[in-house]
Amino acid sequence: MKTTSVLACTLAAAGSASAETIGEINGNRFLSPFDGKKVTNVTGIVTAKGQSGVWLRSLEATKDERVSDGIYVYGSALVKNASIATGDVIVIDGTVSEYRSSAAYLPLTEISYPTVRAILERNRTFAPIVLGKQRSPPTQQLSGLDSGNAFAVPNNKSLVSVVNPVLEPSKYGLDFWESLVGEYVTIKTPVLSVDLTGMVTLGLRKPEAILITAPLDGTKNQANGKLGDELEDITGVVTQGFGFYQIQPLTKLTVTSSLEPTVSGATKLISNGKCSGITVGGYNIENFSPKDVDHVTAVATHIVEYLKTPDLLILQEVQDNNGETNDGTVDSGLTLMALADAIADLSNVVYNYTYVNPVDGENGGAPGGNIRNAYLYRPDVLRLQGGSAAVAGDAVTANEVLKGPKLKYNPGLIDPNNAAWLDSRKPLVAAWELVGSQGKLSKPWWGVLGLWNLFGPGKNRRKTLFTVNVHFTSKGGSSSLHGDARPPVNGGVEQRIAQATVAGEFISKILDHDDDALVLTVGDFNEYGFAPPVQTFARVSGLRDLDEVAKIPIIGTLFELDHTFVSKQLGKGAKFEHLHVNTWLAYSDQVSDHDPSVAKFDIC
Ligand SMILES: *[C@@H]1O[C@H](CO)[C@@H](O)[C@H](O)[C@H]1NC(C)=O
Ligand SMILES: *[C@@H]1O[C@H](CO)[C@@H](O)[C@H](O)[C@H]1NC(C)=O
Ligand SMILES: *[C@@H]1O[C@H](CO)[C@@H](O)[C@H](O)[C@H]1NC(C)=O
Ligand SMILES: *[C@@H]1O[C@H](CO)[C@@H](O)[C@H](O)[C@H]1NC(C)=O
Ligand SMILES: *[C@@H]1O[C@H](CO)[C@@H](O)[C@H](O)[C@H]1NC(C)=O
Repeated sequence: MKTTSVLACTLAAAGSASAETIGEINGNRFLSPFDGKKVTNVTGIVTAKGQSGVWLRSLEATKDERVSDGIYVYGSALVKNASIATGDVIVIDGTVSEYRSSAAYLPLTEISYPTVRAILERNRTFAPIVLGKQRSPPTQQLSGLDSGNAFAVPNNKSLVSVVNPVLEPSKYGLDFWESLVGEYVTIKTPVLSVDLTGMVTLGLRKPEAILITAPLDGTKNQANGKLGDELEDITGVVTQGFGFYQIQPLTKLTVTSSLEPTVSGATKLISNGKCSGITVGGYNIENFSPKDVDHVTAVATHIVEYLKTPDLLILQEVQDNNGETNDGTVDSGLTLMALADAIADLSNVVYNYTYVNPVDGENGGAPGGNIRNAYLYRPDVLRLQGGSAAVAGDAVTANEVLKGPKLKYNPGLIDPNNAAWLDSRKPLVAAWELVGSQGKLSKPWWGVLGLWNLFGPGKNRRKTLFTVNVHFTSKGGSSSLHGDARPPVNGGVEQRIAQATVAGEFISKILDHDDDALVLTVGDFNEYGFAPPVQTFARVSGLRDLDEVAKIPIIGTLFELDHTFVSKQLGKGAKFEHLHVNTWLAYSDQVSDHDPSVAKFDIC
């Protein structure tokens, strides 16, 4: 034991004979080769001071793009020492550590327990590295460990902290930001995107996106930055924390221009009450309970003022009649009546509603709430196919596609006992027809002579609109896109793929009966459009994403969890709008954690 410690002392003494540069401490991989070791006479310019540490930049540039010449020095004594200012050239000793607050995150290389040996110079000038000019992030991939795609399955095949690859900053986003960690940078005219968690990120594609955190000078960023906002140049330091690469700006962000309109307005898609222009709204109304009267009013106001009371509303997260009281109640008639009444109070528009109760406690979500999917419809425009003869399914009975095509149960659940729906919402499928004379099919030229009634679909036949209302299982348990696990853990992805397959197979049966059937799927897929569950749904169902059909610009749709899919025939001439009535607002002003959408279809 003694011999070892003597040897260690000798080595340490020998080690301190050569001072380390910041570049040597960082190295060209994610983890420092000096992790856990003492370093001496590390020299650098103080580029920024934070709450708990300072950032240093080496006087000598390594001239290797894989190696950062900046580093974070953790220690409040340094910060509190008023005689140390930005622009000072200081010499410190300390211990290198790879710090992370959770094992799921990537660590930050830092020097901790610093002591200052000397201040060599004051007020030296230094310039930021200009991103987009001196260094530009790659735009395609996050990590070489992602099997080509950060949403590839299976997830978590390897850990960055174990593989510790040599950085390839021109290829991979994480490698790019890692090669700049600790550095002082400027981003020219950034554009805001806001991801799922509501955090502010820059850039629209993930590899070049970076989180912007609280300013170093104690000011606050405005809470209502919007997708697509252009900002003044941002200068700050690159760091890593809470699972993300981040820039801590010196001061708060300034928005220079916003996309027009600045607030999402009302939909321009208004129903004409006829088959040539019926409207359908989709909305996850977030744990909707009749007990929360303010929420009921707020949702009703959105439906009236922004969605313009569409003919059909496809809703998710409708709770039972007593909300989260966990007493075995499953029915949601009062919940939907509360919403219909609130809408009628505001607009004089009368809605009817339909739903299938779940088995108590088997739909996941808030305990006792029994959230389920439901429809509100305007009985002056639509009715369930079959009218009063329609038979609704129940919690445990699988719906079927019958010749016609038509549904055995209207509405009914898709394969509710399938393991794919464990602790999750079962899709609610319904078939609709227009009321009144104009809902009837028009006769083709040969329809005269009564042939229509003999060989055609019959004189009372009406066009049928099939709707599938989905709410797939959540992404809970996901790891950060910038996290240690590669590809990142996409919580629930296997179950969502299974759900997409079961729902998709049901829809494909409708289209097997009639390739021209009008089929609409709306809901909360809890998944991005480019990820495997949504891709699986498109492939198995044969439906197309209405964002693509209606050519909705990718800004604002890339990280959407809600999707609308249409059959070939329904997509013809379809119009679509996303109403950013929640995600563009400050958190406290949001009515739901989802935005609604409205689509308009010609179903003649
Ligand atoms: C570190 O700097 C001090 C002066 O502050 C000097 O005496 C010492 O030799 C230096 N050590 C190394 C290893 O460079
Ligand atoms: C602040 O740093 C200077 C320079 O290293 C040092 O002389 C002084 O003792 C420090 N003051 C405190 C309060 O630590
Ligand atoms: C630092 O240098 C700037 C010019 O680069 C000068 O205006 C300023 O007074 C200097 N500050 C100190 C504390 O020497
Ligand atoms: C990824 O897998 C490792 C085992 O290789 C495990 O320790 C870790 O918790 C997993 N990460 C996540 C986020 O599930
Ligand atoms: C409302 O729907 C129910 C069945 O869900 C039906 O019995 C009732 O007649 C409908 N009311 C109107 C006005 O259509």
